[in-house]
Amino acid sequence: MTMTNNHLTPSFQPADRIASFKPYYFASLNRKIDSLRAQGKDIIRIDIGSPDLPPADFIVEALIESSKLKSHHGYGPNGGPFAFKQAVAQYYHRRFQVELDPSSQILGLIGSKEGLFHLSQVLVNPGDVVLVPDPGYPVYKASGLIAGAEIYSLPLTAENNFLPNLDSIPTDIANRAKILWLNYPNNPTGAIADLKFFEKAIEFGRKYNCVIAHDAPYTDVCFNGYKAPSILEVPGAQEVCVEFNSLSKTYNMAGWRVGMALGNAKIISLLHTYKSQLDTSQFTPIYDAGVTALSEDQSWLNDRNDIYQERRDIILNAIRSVGFQAETPPAAIYIWARLPEGFEDSMYFCNRLLEEAGLSITPGVIYGEHGEGFVRLSLCTAAEKLQIAMERLITWMNTQKN
Ligand SMILES: Cc1ncc(COP(=O)(O)O)c(C=O)c1O
Repeated sequence: MTMTNNHLTPSFQPADRIASFKPYYFASLNRKIDSLRAQGKDIIRIDIGSPDLPPADFIVEALIESSKLKSHHGYGPNGGPFAFKQAVAQYYHRRFQVELDPSSQILGLIGSKEGLFHLSQVLVNPGDVVLVPDPGYPVYKASGLIAGAEIYSLPLTAENNFLPNLDSIPTDIANRAKILWLNYPNNPTGAIADLKFFEKAIEFGRKYNCVIAHDAPYTDVCFNGYKAPSILEVPGAQEVCVEFNSLSKTYNMAGWRVGMALGNAKIISLLHTYKSQLDTSQFTPIYDAGVTALSEDQSWLNDRNDIYQERRDIILNAIRSVGFQAETPPAAIYIWARLPEGFEDSMYFCNRLLEEAGLSITPGVIYGEHGEGFVRLSLCTAAEKLQIAMERLITWMNTQKN
């Protein structure tokens, strides 16, 4: 058979909804760091918020025991088994005094990131507005853009305690808003919100028929006795709120991919409908271990939080000594620091620090334009290694002054 010249090389074009996207920042960073390491460079990473400590042994044991059961290797129920939802409901009752119906108000997720992304797909039509904090976790904006939303940014600044000013939102924007995103304890700033602020947000949601989506994976990573609230503690919250939570940071289970959406039954049902079209649940033993994590001894979390607190203070002491300005975060696993005088471009700063000093931290600009001039340092590295990291930073900063 002879080949004719009629065959053109196929040229596939991305769909409009994805055409302007680049890979997620940390996906590109991983590739860059792999390449530097392959060249023999020693790199210390304090960029990503992936807990370096393991879950308690009894949680891992629960996974092992469950995986020995022959019946636990088939497809599980989409959105998680009832036992998991029940354990989440009991956890919310014990931890926040919030009552939730496990069947209609709780949905298991493949990590909360999955549910955050889906929320825009189930609520937003092209041209609707999504209200997004800036700086903020990138998925809020990306998922809104992919759904065709117009993004309206809410600046989070030190002057407003890193809380969005809801009164500043123009009425015509508020009328078109489908989702208001909130996240406390906050990534990347480490800021917290109280119930008074949540009440105000819920009032906004009621007034403008806008879903209040509270992303809350850090509620159990708190320091100095602080206890972060759930937005669902506000009476009537379930009329307009969905909260996302996760076992990733609370129980050091980020790689296990297990999270949950909770609250308004209509939204939970929409998320379930959407999600059941595209995934077929997780490995049953992961959910079984999740039940163990949520239900059994919680005291180990205090020791884990003390470890983070020690790391937090090592970083704060070091960075403040070379001119960074940073508040002491009462929760979450990040330090949000303004670059010292003379530095503005956070991406340029982080690239040079990585290449010249072998230290990787996160440029604030990836969280939005109000993150420019800032960097985020994560607490997910052991104290001894952090000391070395801070020595590298201080030495490198001193060479910049000459
Ligand atoms: C604010 C925020 N939301 C959600 C997530 C995603 O968590 P998960 O591992 O549950 O998908 C993260 C992870 O860093 C986060 O910082």
